[in-house]
Amino acid sequence: MRDGVVYQIYPRSFQDSDGDGVGDLAGIRSRLDHLVWLGVDALWMSPIYPSPMADFGYDVAGYMDVDPVFGDLAQFDALTEAAHERGLRVLMDVVPCHTSIEHPWFREHPDWYIWADRPNNWISAFGGSAWAPRDGRYYLHSFYPEQPDLDWRNPEVIEAMQDALRFWLDRGADGYRVDAIDRLLKDPQLRDDPPASQPFGLPLREDEAKLALTNSRNAPDTGAALAKIREACGDAFLVGEVYLPSARWQPYSDYFDAVFAFELLHSPWDAHLLRAAIEATTRQPRPAWVMSNHDFGRLSARFGERNARAAAMLLLTLPGPAFLYQGDEIGQGEGPPGATRFDRAGRDRHRHPMQWEGSPRGGFTTGEPWLPLTDPAERNVAGQRDDPTSMLSLVRELIALRRELGEQFEPLDAGEGIVAFRRGGHTVAINTTSEPLRVALEGELCIQTAAGALQDGRLAPHAGAIGVD
Ligand code: GLC
Repeated sequence: MRDGVVYQIYPRSFQDSDGDGVGDLAGIRSRLDHLVWLGVDALWMSPIYPSPMADFGYDVAGYMDVDPVFGDLAQFDALTEAAHERGLRVLMDVVPCHTSIEHPWFREHPDWYIWADRPNNWISAFGGSAWAPRDGRYYLHSFYPEQPDLDWRNPEVIEAMQDALRFWLDRGADGYRVDAIDRLLKDPQLRDDPPASQPFGLPLREDEAKLALTNSRNAPDTGAALAKIREACGDAFLVGEVYLPSARWQPYSDYFDAVFAFELLHSPWDAHLLRAAIEATTRQPRPAWVMSNHDFGRLSARFGERNARAAAMLLLTLPGPAFLYQGDEIGQGEGPPGATRFDRAGRDRHRHPMQWEGSPRGGFTTGEPWLPLTDPAERNVAGQRDDPTSMLSLVRELIALRRELGEQFEPLDAGEGIVAFRRGGHTVAINTTSEPLRVALEGELCIQTAAGALQDGRLAPHAGAIGVD
């Protein structure tokens, strides 16, 4: 997995097999050959556990089962076996910091959760106080009120979560994406977050940005809890969703194989800022590259449709594991901004179903899709697969080339507007501007984002090219 490509599946929206309009495990299994054809090494599934779906599976009501909307354990086994037969690894999404409020633990073991007599000033990720009243006290919810935070200083919690982690690994899972892990441990005295004295280093909500966020997350003894996660997982692959700038990745990078590099995901498409994000991150051990996902949006929406190909080139040529979000291989569009039909935090638009073909339901379902498809007629897998000039073909070529890139990574100073670096015998250059720019690409041209992107030593606007010595 050192330089592997992990394909993120959002199970609700990948492939429906039973016509209920919601994707499921049997659907994923029926589409594995797409992943093999693309050349990825592993798939990561957003949560499939039983859930009331207040946060679409990130509110877990049972860690050792499958929600009926996705299938059952037998379907999970069949999927894992089919993936392994094809040489694909399977990563689950574990949500250790909170459960669903409907998890039996919340009733049966209230002491497994974090309580206070009075709220402090901590803010939930979705806005407002992170505390909600219950039975004369307040419980902590770092995310939605339907997601009470577990107390990782309670040994019974650790034991129960270790059992859950072992459960899926014993069934054949190859590792985990570990959700919101910077929230695992908070200040045991529940002290207020002090006012911010310097910028956090990653985008925050306006109310969060006013606080230093030093007590509500990332407590100094986090490493002890991470060690328990690692202990249960042996040498399985663990990638952490750590919402901190890379300079603060310790202790997460001590215990995990990789840590998501949010500085790059959040960087504007500007050569200077992209270079700064990449250079800061590559100074730390174990970056995992991600430029789009179900929370923050698609490649084409984040970096602009005209830059989507160049963004894919960047993502897939950096050193370390790269995470590709389903649909981004075809440059799929997003839903309307502001839609909150399902997710109150407005993330529906990043989660519209996968577009396999050009029909209105895109081959995703025979029923009524839970969210409509966005642009199946313009962008779909069938239409791009045999077209050598398509984004899908480019992504596939980039994944194939990745295996030849080797370990070396050296940023190059290629001038204003250009992001460039060396990977072994290859040179990658990306023009982030709207003007053609001169680049000295060493060796022979091996991949470009579009035919004619590199001509007479000039790289077209919004284009990228890779040369080989
Ligand atoms: C992570 C997930 C996000 C979820 C949150 C709470 O950030 O990616 O979708 O809402 O954790 O579990």
